Amino acid sequence: MNRSLKDRMAHGGFDGYAYAYPHKTAYRPLAPPVPLTEAWRDEDKRNLFLYVHLPFCEMRCGFCNLFTTVQPESSLVAQTLAAIERQSATVASLIAPDRVAQVAFGGGTPSFLTEGELECLFTRLGQHWPVAWGGVPVSFEVSPGTITREKLACLKALGVDRISLGVQSFETEDLVALKRPQPAGQLDLACALIKGARFPVFNIDLIYGAEGQTLDRWRRSVERALEWQPEEVFIYPLYVGKLTNLDRSGKRPGDHRRALHRLAREHLVAAGYRQISMRHFRRAELVRRADHCCQDDGMIGLGAGRVPTPARSTTVPNTPSVSPESKRSSSPSTPAPPPISPSPTTEPY
Ligand SMILES: C[S@@+](CC[C@H](N)C(=O)[O-])C[C@H]1O[C@@H](n2cnc3c(N)ncnc32)[C@H](O)[C@@H]1O
Ligand code: SF4
Repeated sequence: MNRSLKDRMAHGGFDGYAYAYPHKTAYRPLAPPVPLTEAWRDEDKRNLFLYVHLPFCEMRCGFCNLFTTVQPESSLVAQTLAAIERQSATVASLIAPDRVAQVAFGGGTPSFLTEGELECLFTRLGQHWPVAWGGVPVSFEVSPGTITREKLACLKALGVDRISLGVQSFETEDLVALKRPQPAGQLDLACALIKGARFPVFNIDLIYGAEGQTLDRWRRSVERALEWQPEEVFIYPLYVGKLTNLDRSGKRPGDHRRALHRLAREHLVAAGYRQISMRHFRRAELVRRADHCCQDDGMIGLGAGRVPTPARSTTVPNTPSVSPESKRSSSPSTPAPPPISPSPTTEPY
C-alpha cells in the first residue's frame, strides 16, 4: 500500500531510507531481454564510471546488511578477483568503452585485500577497461582495522586519490550500541595513517541514531571527526535492516535522528563544509575533477554485489557467487543468496 509523504513524515521520515539514484525497486525484468551491445549502442561511452564491489570484511557489524562475507579464505578472494576479471572481459568486449572517467571500490571492505591482491586487481582492471590510473578520480573504502602504512602507500601508488574511512562514531558507547567492536586507539591510528599518507581526499563516515546516543555524545563524535580535517564527511542515519544483529536483538534507531542531523549539519557548515546531499558534506574549497556526470553518463557495476546505480548501469548475469557470512573454507562455491537489502552506498561514494 502506498503511503503519502505526510504519513511517512509523521512516522519519523526515515523508514523508507532511499537514495536519489534509481532505487532497486526501479529495476525490473526486461521482456524481451535486451542484449548489452544493443542497450549500449547509442550511449556516450567517454565518461564511464566503474564501480567495483568487494564483498569481504573482518566481521559483520551489528547494523550492517550489505552484501559481504566475513573472514573469507584467500582462495575465495582469488576466485572473486578472477571472476571480476572474467566479468570485465565479457562486459568490456560487449559495450566497447571509450574511457573510464571515474572509479570507486566499495564493499564490504575493499581494504581487506592484501597489497598483492590489490596490485593484481588494478592491473587486471586496467587490461580490460580504458582507465588512466592516476589521471582520474579513484575512491576506495577502508575500515580502521584493515589498513597499514604500507597498504595506503600501495593504494596511493596505484592511483587512489580518495580514501573513505568507516568510523561510525568516535564514542565507545556508540560503537558498543552499534555492535561494532573496535580496539582502543584503532580509530585514531587509522586517521593518523591516512592523514600521513596525504591522499587528496579523506572522507569520514559517521552514523547517527545509535541506541542511547545523546546530542552531546553525537556532537563530540562530529567534533572528533573534524579534528582530523577530513575533506569530506558522510553522516548516515542508522537504519536497522532485517536479519541484522541489531534487528534480531530488537534494537531500533533513536527517534531523534532529525535533531541529530540538524546538529551535525550546523556544526559542519560552521566549520566550512558545504552540504552536497542529506548525508554528504564537503569542504567548501575542495575542487575534485569529475568528468563523469551521474545523470548522463553510464555506470558499470562489477563484482558479486548488485549495487543500485544510475539508470544506464549494467551488470552481467551470472556474476561470481559469494555466500554471505561464509567462513574461510575450502568450499567457496555455495550458491549466493540474493543481497539482503540495498546498499547504503548507492552514490558512487
Ligand atoms: C560499505 S560501508 C563501509 C565501509 C567499511 N566496510 C567500514 O565499515 O568501515 C559504507 C558506509 O555505509 C554506512 N552504513 C552501512 N550500513 C548502515 C546502516 N545500517 N545504517 C547507516 N549507515 C550504514 C556506514 O557509515 C559505512 O561506513
Ligand atoms: S559496516 Fe563495513 S565492516 Fe561492517 S559489516 Fe558492513 S561493510 Fe563490513
